[in-house]
Amino acid sequence: MSSRSAVRPATGKLGILTPGLGAVATTFIAGVEAVRRGSARPIGSLTQLATIRLGKRSEKRAPLIKDFVPLAALQDVVFGAWDPIPDDAYTAAKKAGVLTPQDLEPLKDFLSGIKPMKAVFDQRYVTRLQGSNVKAGKHKRDLAEQLRQDIRDFKKANGLDRVVAVWCGSTEIFIKPSAVHETIAAFEAAMEQDHADIAPSMLYAWACIMEGVAYCNGAPNLAVDCPALIQLAERQGVPISGKDFKTGQTWMKTVIAPGIKARMLGLAGWYSTNILGNRDGEVLDDPASFKTKEESKLSVLHTILQPETYPELYDGFSHVVRINYYPPRGDNKEGWDNIDIVGWMGYPMQIKVNFLCRDSILAAPLVLDLALLSDFAMRAGLKGMQEWLSFYYKSPMSAPGLQPEHDLFIQQTKLKNTLRELMGEAPVTHSEEDA
Ligand SMILES: NC(=O)c1ccc[n+]([C@@H]2O[C@H](COP(=O)([O-])OP(=O)(O)OC[C@H]3O[C@@H](n4cnc5c(N)ncnc54)[C@H](O)[C@@H]3O)[C@@H](O)[C@H]2O)c1
Repeated sequence: MSSRSAVRPATGKLGILTPGLGAVATTFIAGVEAVRRGSARPIGSLTQLATIRLGKRSEKRAPLIKDFVPLAALQDVVFGAWDPIPDDAYTAAKKAGVLTPQDLEPLKDFLSGIKPMKAVFDQRYVTRLQGSNVKAGKHKRDLAEQLRQDIRDFKKANGLDRVVAVWCGSTEIFIKPSAVHETIAAFEAAMEQDHADIAPSMLYAWACIMEGVAYCNGAPNLAVDCPALIQLAERQGVPISGKDFKTGQTWMKTVIAPGIKARMLGLAGWYSTNILGNRDGEVLDDPASFKTKEESKLSVLHTILQPETYPELYDGFSHVVRINYYPPRGDNKEGWDNIDIVGWMGYPMQIKVNFLCRDSILAAPLVLDLALLSDFAMRAGLKGMQEWLSFYYKSPMSAPGLQPEHDLFIQQTKLKNTLRELMGEAPVTHSEEDA
């Protein structure tokens, strides 16, 4: 791994582009601007608030991550977005209804200035949406080339040093990996043939990688999680990561399930249901988009609990996930989990979780961290799939033949140890020797 001297400093301005300017993206942008103005705190963001222990405990060295790692300063960040809906960031935030007028109105001048670029959008991939702010082109390759031009124009117009992208667009219909996703050549030929397996999210990913823009995938869409784009990212020297922000119920799952397993308690079943009333909920009301989300949510428990290794505890547990679109709740999701666990001598017990969360409030700091850490990764010379960013994702990408890591605490250790190693510090193992 690279050492401290190999990390390029964060000089100049960093552009953060979001395909999608809906609830998550506008809450993220508004929050960063409020923090810059001193009217809010960046709660939920590791890059802004967390410390990192260095060396032995007795050394008492625990700087803030942002003082240890050369990250871009919030003052140096510039925002841009694409969206098929032409609303500027203020209008979109108002419609999303996440932030109160008290928080939103003082930011109106700033947010109104962020207008989405024309999107690459096709209703076949997000059936519940209609948009007028959409590019036209000869074929998918041509559309992707237009995205590349947008990135170059955005960089030039704002005098940017570097750009990263975080997908905050809708969840597309489920696409199975196929031959067109296998190699760069097959992928590029398929773009020219307008192949149905090349979704808009993949065109953004391709365009970003070609422009040297790190790409983070906040939705469960396949996007960068295919061999062709992983190879392209390696070839172009660009970090990529995904998929699907780990925020509400799944975040809770990856906290509780490792606890059940650590105590060697059994699991008979886990039933999760949600009510959600924002646009994301409406999009997910379409079974084809829900299928993409469901795949992402279901994978978690199996990899944490390892039924192959512990059949008597976890073989055949039942796992059900439901999302119900219920408009009155807007962005304020309510989730219920019923967990049937099994204890000593096979006695059944139950855990109930009732989580009243705010989806975009949980997701916004993840967007910030992913953008800043991916920019850092690029300057540290990392490329291709960034497994150390699994901490942020429900359905982390993983090397071929390996299971993704879902346990939040292992993910956190991996993230912090990666930062330590990149900065020339020893990893922390928490063993007695490492006191
Ligand atoms: N909020 C969370 O906790 C959370 C957690 C995990 C994943 N996500 C995912 O993050 C994404 C954003 O969530 P949200 O609540 O902001 O949704 P949202 O519906 O408010 O915003 C999504 C935006 O993306 C736009 N869009 C759709 N297709 C596009 C395209 N091809 N190009 C550019 N823009 C496009 C839509 O017009 C919309 O404005 C969703 O995919 C959601 O599943 C959110």
